[in-house]
Amino acid sequence: MKKNKARFLALAEKYRDVGIAPACEYFGRCGGCRFQDIAYDNQLLLKREYLAEILNGVCDVGAVRPSSPLHYRNRMDFVTAFGNIGLRKSGSHRHVVDIDSCAIMQQKSNDAFRALRPLLAGIEDYNYLRHTGYLRYAVLRQARFTGQVMVNFVIAERENRLRHVISGIVDRADSVSILLSDGLADLSFGEVIEDVKGGAIEEIFDGIRFAIAPNSFFQSNSEVALEMYRRIREEVSGNVLDLYSGVGSISLFAAARADRMTGVEMLAEGVAMANRNREANGIMNADFICADVLDFVKHNETRFDTVVLDPPRSGMNPRVVRYIRQMAPGKIVYMSCNPVTFRDDCALLDEYAMQSFEAFDMFPQTPHIETLAVLRRRGA
Ligand SMILES: C[S@@+](CC[C@H](N)C(=O)[O-])C[C@H]1O[C@@H](n2cnc3c(N)ncnc32)[C@H](O)[C@@H]1O
Repeated sequence: MKKNKARFLALAEKYRDVGIAPACEYFGRCGGCRFQDIAYDNQLLLKREYLAEILNGVCDVGAVRPSSPLHYRNRMDFVTAFGNIGLRKSGSHRHVVDIDSCAIMQQKSNDAFRALRPLLAGIEDYNYLRHTGYLRYAVLRQARFTGQVMVNFVIAERENRLRHVISGIVDRADSVSILLSDGLADLSFGEVIEDVKGGAIEEIFDGIRFAIAPNSFFQSNSEVALEMYRRIREEVSGNVLDLYSGVGSISLFAAARADRMTGVEMLAEGVAMANRNREANGIMNADFICADVLDFVKHNETRFDTVVLDPPRSGMNPRVVRYIRQMAPGKIVYMSCNPVTFRDDCALLDEYAMQSFEAFDMFPQTPHIETLAVLRRRGA
């Protein structure tokens, strides 16, 4: 994996323009963006060339679909450590670059972050080397199409020392929560120990409403996610299985095209949000199951016409792919944020031919790419 990333960054040199001014003063120090000194059109060409290398022999790679290059991100996790508030220095866990705005985060959440920063002076931050201290993260989230803003404080001790901070920020946010993350793992999630306001924010895609809770996964770039979900909706039919379903966003968005939708997600909170979102939208033909995907596919006896896959960056267990082959759906719609694991999974799906492949720039300025493939069972 490291080798592929190194190759991507080496390839970037070819597209690096002399004289492009990065949009952000922290570029070069902050680990958040790697490509701000590459013109946006060149970033798209770079991503296409990288994908074509990785997917050589698997599929043809066309132009990468663009996004708004700046202020697109729905979520930023600002680390509070070593006296600074910001993002980790490129390649280093021990250094945090102190920043007061982010060129890829959406504007309203940037405004809230600017207001929040001075309020955090005097709040003990977290020492990631000794595992001592209080505030680990300030997480800012914003729903693109409703503009609603969420602020989550991730703390390491079960104690609210943030009352004056919260009173200074509460009017700028639709949801404010305190989350406890008291283990050794570096997590910007945790048990909600205080729901100060709202409990969730709402995003709307083509009239379908999604409540997003503090710990819920939601795609980072709503503009691109909506484009991809529309493509997925065009491809599904019959009895549909949506594996790795998160808060059920793909299932609920595409349900109108399916006879029946079944989402499978291992996080109980995601499944609870999916059920809540199903009720809020009055969708009758979707069910959500809380299970590990491997357990589900291993014991499943239902016949599915379409299987939608959207695994995490680490990809799928090869046994999951084997069970999907045995299920023999006519079509697989595969959304991926990792072209390397996508390629490896395709190699295991012998009975399937690539019907279409598209790449989307879900993460401008960074070395990440989202892809969408439709695979059809040969002879189906
Ligand atoms: C990339 S997200 C996709 C979410 C959703 N499809 C969407 O568009 O919002 C991957 C999801 O897979 C879930 N997940 C990861 N490993 C899993 C497993 N082994 N079994 C079930 N769900 C899993 C994660 O909790 C996460 O919600």
